[in-house]
Amino acid sequence: MCGIVAYIGKKEAYPILIKGLQRLEYRGYDSAGVALLSNGELNLYKKQGKVANLVDFASDKNTTGQIGIAHTRWATHGEPNDKNAHPHSSSNGNLAIIHNGIIENYDVLKEELISRGYVFKSDTDTEVLVHLIDDIQKKEGVWFGEALRIALLSVTGAYAIVVISKDKPDTIVAARKSSPLVIGIGKENDFYLASDATPIVEYTDQVVYMNDEEIAVIDLKDGMKLWNIQDEEKTPYVQHLELQLEALEKGGYEHFMLKEIHEQPRSINDCFRGRLNATEGWVELGGIKDYEQQLINANRVVMVACGTSWHACLVGEYLFEDLARINVEVEYASEFRYRNPIINEGDIVIAVSQSGETADTMAALELAKSKGAIILGICNVVGSSISRITHAGSYTHAGPEIGVASTKAFTAQVTVLTLMALSIAHKKGTMNETKFRTMLAELELIPDKVKKVLENNAHIERIAAEYKDATNALYLGRGSSFPVALEGALKLKEISYIHAEGYPAAEMKHGPIALIDEAMPVFVVATKGTSYEKVVSNIQEVKARKGKIIAIVTEGDEQVKLMADHIIEIPDTDEHLVPLLATVPFQLLSYHMAVMRGCNVDQPRNLAKSVTVE
Ligand code: G6P
Repeated sequence: MCGIVAYIGKKEAYPILIKGLQRLEYRGYDSAGVALLSNGELNLYKKQGKVANLVDFASDKNTTGQIGIAHTRWATHGEPNDKNAHPHSSSNGNLAIIHNGIIENYDVLKEELISRGYVFKSDTDTEVLVHLIDDIQKKEGVWFGEALRIALLSVTGAYAIVVISKDKPDTIVAARKSSPLVIGIGKENDFYLASDATPIVEYTDQVVYMNDEEIAVIDLKDGMKLWNIQDEEKTPYVQHLELQLEALEKGGYEHFMLKEIHEQPRSINDCFRGRLNATEGWVELGGIKDYEQQLINANRVVMVACGTSWHACLVGEYLFEDLARINVEVEYASEFRYRNPIINEGDIVIAVSQSGETADTMAALELAKSKGAIILGICNVVGSSISRITHAGSYTHAGPEIGVASTKAFTAQVTVLTLMALSIAHKKGTMNETKFRTMLAELELIPDKVKKVLENNAHIERIAAEYKDATNALYLGRGSSFPVALEGALKLKEISYIHAEGYPAAEMKHGPIALIDEAMPVFVVATKGTSYEKVVSNIQEVKARKGKIIAIVTEGDEQVKLMADHIIEIPDTDEHLVPLLATVPFQLLSYHMAVMRGCNVDQPRNLAKSVTVE
């Protein structure tokens, strides 16, 4: 949610900043802007819309300079227009700032600054910071880095900030609290700062992930120094970046989303690596080994997440309860944190998050931690905030997910939760050896079976063409296919803007059935298993009202075929593993429908991939 990038060194900053913004555009694309220091001048350009608009706008401007900051915005305070775009500058034009996060007490600070004569040019919370720094500089006669530190003492909220000033054209200052900020240490005494490592990876693999309330001062002469806001010097912890540049490119696919859907056989396999061995009959999640016994003994596990990750938790709930006989509660992180939740001794809270930065999930975890819970994380982004505040965790290893609508991260989350449930069930003795071994063998086959599902792409595209003009859609499933239905509906509304609802199939008769007519496509997971016959009845109820049925069925199914308007076959597997296969046709259906409707599938309107505000 908002992407920031900055450069200081001997190279021209502008191309580095623009490329960086394009990499970070998934975090928001309401507006983009850049500020460059060049020959004593501070040149600032900003434009509503995507980075491409900024590039057009700046094409005939002076974009020289070896120090610069840039920003791509997801609007919170103030509508997405030119004046609210970052960077924001001080009244005298000396300072420029970019910010990701929210200044919660901005209104109090703003009032005070206005009363002292400061004139605001935007409606953002961020502009308060730049005037505050300016004000402190004037009042206390300190340089802008020290003024930023003092300013942050009176700020409540979340921030990743980078500031430059005409007064010190060889210096860049950054600060972070609750919003991510990574510093790349270049090979030519240069430094790259960004919201995540994607704009940095092609220049260096040496990075420092800033911690909360840290301030980085980077100077062309003295290099980088870290302080906390109490003015104590900190030692930077330099880490090796494990990111491949190719992972950030489309690799011949038309969209990142399509590439990421097709990557799933690989990403699920990567998730297994070193953790699953069906031949030898073991499953082990090294990252949470120290807390394994607590998991085995747990009376209750609470899973917290948002969006697609919340759906993964719902699948996890079925797996943990059925296989490991652990009571699980799945909570929207945003609700959990404001509800004075009951946390008992021995409770374990698991946060599931692709980005590892979602503000509500972070806050829910911090709350659970403060109440004495053991907190575990399942994250995709290595080094992310959630992965750093948890007691332990498991990475999903899906690789960077750039498409805003989550696909491969979801199946990777479900994979980790499956491995966890199996490991606990086996050790706890709630699953016998034969069943355990059979499940491991089935699980190991999943990547190849996902490959088979993907071979249906052309068939799925033809179905998409028939329903692309629908205005509503219903998704139905039972058991662990209910979250698959929720996820199918979310994917469709996110990227094609068709209104869609996911429902437990049996609940349809308590409301949604009233919506069914010949124009309503109903997408149903009707695979073989415990609820098969029940779902068949639900399909008949839809057909009796002339609804259109698009059913996901087990290969070779004959019964549903006779009733459905379309079927999409998936390979047979253990019932517990169906979500890993049944999700994929829904991803492809949404993708094709959105493309046919002319929507921007990788960057749907109003959404952002990493939601770092409440
Ligand atoms: C945003 C994204 C979703 C994601 C959700 C939770 O809404 O657009 O794709 O599922 O945030 O994000 P997380 O990174 O915590 O999984």
